Amino acid sequence: VIDIRKLYGQTGMFTYDPGFTSTASCQSAITYIDGEKGILLHRGYPIDQLAENSSFMEVAYLLLHGELPARKELETFSYTISRHTMVHEQMLTFFRGFRRDAHPMAIMCGAVGALSAFYHDSTDITDPEQRMIASHRLIAKMPTLVAMAHKYSVGQPFLYPDNSLSYTGNFLRMTFGVPAEPYVVNPIIENAMRRIFILHADHEQNASTSTVRLAGSSGANPFACIAAGIACLWGPAHGGANEAALNMLREIGKPENIPQYIARAKDKNDPFRLMGFGHRVYKNFDPRAKVMKATADEVLKELGKSDPVLDVAKELERIALSDEYFIEKKLYPNVDFYSGVILNAIGFPTDMFTALFALARTVGWVAQWNEMISDPEQKIGRPRQLYVGAPQRDYIPVEKR
Ligand code: ACO
Repeated sequence: VIDIRKLYGQTGMFTYDPGFTSTASCQSAITYIDGEKGILLHRGYPIDQLAENSSFMEVAYLLLHGELPARKELETFSYTISRHTMVHEQMLTFFRGFRRDAHPMAIMCGAVGALSAFYHDSTDITDPEQRMIASHRLIAKMPTLVAMAHKYSVGQPFLYPDNSLSYTGNFLRMTFGVPAEPYVVNPIIENAMRRIFILHADHEQNASTSTVRLAGSSGANPFACIAAGIACLWGPAHGGANEAALNMLREIGKPENIPQYIARAKDKNDPFRLMGFGHRVYKNFDPRAKVMKATADEVLKELGKSDPVLDVAKELERIALSDEYFIEKKLYPNVDFYSGVILNAIGFPTDMFTALFALARTVGWVAQWNEMISDPEQKIGRPRQLYVGAPQRDYIPVEKR
């Protein structure tokens, strides 16, 4: 038996760490998580304080620049973002190339990557000024593109941005407004969206952020890097989880059916998992889930809706949290468990959920991308592997195989 690891000189010191569960790929001063205690801080500020008190623009500035903005800085930043909300008219033609029933995330992967074809003056990553313009453009244009993806799928005309509204208000209007009618932003819904955006803004080195960093480490332009992050976010184990969680809650249908789903989640021969439960880092309550739960109650009360799905969610949480399996494995509801219920109540189709996540996470992605590019220790990301394939052998002609 040949030890091929020795044969190929792979006996040196490197860690074999599938899923990077214990490997730090970078240094970062942006977000801190203590998964055991359920703590999440952005630049030192607790997530619940930010979700309660700050605007999304303040959080975007904080993540990007490291400090909360002074009033004048906030005004200038918000103004700058509002100046970049338009997309090139040719993007409309680009959108029309998609099938009507295209998933919004499929559109977003293409549309955001395509921005690099429009903004040649902000793709030189060695120039800090160009990097900042690209960051502003991405933060500003995401709501426009996500709203366009929605309008396209429902066959309604696109709405141009109204920069007199807040970042969130403008997005709600572009998504739900129609050209001939005035759109009045409901402050409770606007506030719920603000919170959802803040809660999703950054989460240190998760899969999509690591993807953005890895793509960026080769010197790829920022629009292409964020498109890579969007592709990664699409998966059901990551950004697609709130869509999957809502679908699961709908499938459960009523509280009486919960025990059968809990039993399936515990069955090792059944691939089924409770969507919206568990987290790679949190082994305690996801602090974002608590804010989401309160927001779900608030939104449903405002809309005068009693959604059976919320009742199922609360009962499922109660049963799971007192179940041995979930206690032993430290599986708690994550941010996605309640967000689907809120987005559904507001009127977003399920397939828009991940696109909303991408919109909010763009702020974290660009902050992390800028931090990486500015880091003098940054190298191209190049993970190693443990080769377990065939040893060297000679080619056999096809007639002799
Ligand atoms: N339901 C049932 N069992 C679960 C669940 C779940 N939701 N999550 C984890 N487990 C079990 C696993 O089967 C495993 O059991 P074992 O030790 O007997 O093998 C154990 O708990 C550990 O799970 P891992 O998959 O090893 O944990 P990992 O850190 O790799 O996965 C993940 C984390 C992907 C989030 C997982 O918990 C999961 O699939 N959850 C459902 C999907 C979800 O909600 N994703 C959203 C994440 S948050 C976000 O992206 C914003």
